[in-house]
Amino acid sequence: MSLSRSPDSDPEIFALIGRTPLMPLRFGPEGLTIYAKAEFTNPSGSIKDRLALTILQDARARGLLRPDTTILECTSGNTGISLAMVGAALGCRVKILMSDTASVERRHLMRHFGAEVQLFKSTRGYQTGIDLSLQMAAADPRYFLPRQFENPLNALDHEEHTGPEILTQMGQQVDAFVSGFGTGGTITGCGRALKKRNPAVQVIVMEPAEAAMLSGELPCCHAIEGVSGGFVPPLLAGAPIDGRLKVTSSEALAMTRRLAREYGLLVGTSSGANVCAALQTARRLGPAARVVTILCDRAERYYSTSLFESPPPAARAEPEVSLAIGI
Ligand SMILES: Cc1ncc(COP(=O)(O)O)c(C=O)c1O
Repeated sequence: MSLSRSPDSDPEIFALIGRTPLMPLRFGPEGLTIYAKAEFTNPSGSIKDRLALTILQDARARGLLRPDTTILECTSGNTGISLAMVGAALGCRVKILMSDTASVERRHLMRHFGAEVQLFKSTRGYQTGIDLSLQMAAADPRYFLPRQFENPLNALDHEEHTGPEILTQMGQQVDAFVSGFGTGGTITGCGRALKKRNPAVQVIVMEPAEAAMLSGELPCCHAIEGVSGGFVPPLLAGAPIDGRLKVTSSEALAMTRRLAREYGLLVGTSSGANVCAALQTARRLGPAARVVTILCDRAERYYSTSLFESPPPAARAEPEVSLAIGI
């Protein structure tokens, strides 16, 4: 299967999705460089614009989006915002099922795009909402389910677009790729594309230390919103993973704040967590290593979360100013 984008009849906004910049971030004292793919520059603010576009374009081409169709998805937020944006541009109704623990800004953004948001009490993470969406679709055939956690188009899109973009931007030279997982689409698709070019590329998965399920630990609460949602998604089974790294919520929060204050990057907590894990990888591989990671989304959707609870940076000691007042 091959995924094509942007036929002439597409809404203009679609042309802004993907082809994101890749930025070198230099960590001075250690002499390390991390190459960060700036997915927060997608028009709705996250990497999820890619899968929303691909899955809904595919549904449209197959005649599955009819005038009475409602797009229904369970999401921690970013996919909901992206589906709401792409759905709005296509003139489709969108309904999002979201855990009541996801940040309130995300709900506002989805509603701003005209989507309906239904909250559920999160007892088993994403699984609660996924089960609910399946029940609703079984009872009403007008629902179309993108099924981001298992839809192969999600990983395929990263394999055909995000991964090749990274290779082009890195001059085909990548030693390691580091990413957390929500659906697993990013690490599965990018991992496959990079391994196809060079099987020696190391694909490293980042997990919150408090919920390192791939390392055999129980799912638990963590503050890295958007990743490790309490279950191992089916898409991840196809990921070519070479290693796992744990990052604590407090390390992720501290790095996310550092990215803002030292690099001017307004990104969410999973981006900070990815950079922490990428730095651990670069320390292991040495300063010449070309380690790539993902800056998944923008910081503005985290105002109500612990990311913005930090104390302001220590006030700079200014020299005392004495005013010479003219007589
Ligand atoms: C903030 C954030 N970071 C990282 C990811 C991981 O992406 P993927 O679903 O492709 O595994 C997601 C998506 O769930 C996300 O919303």
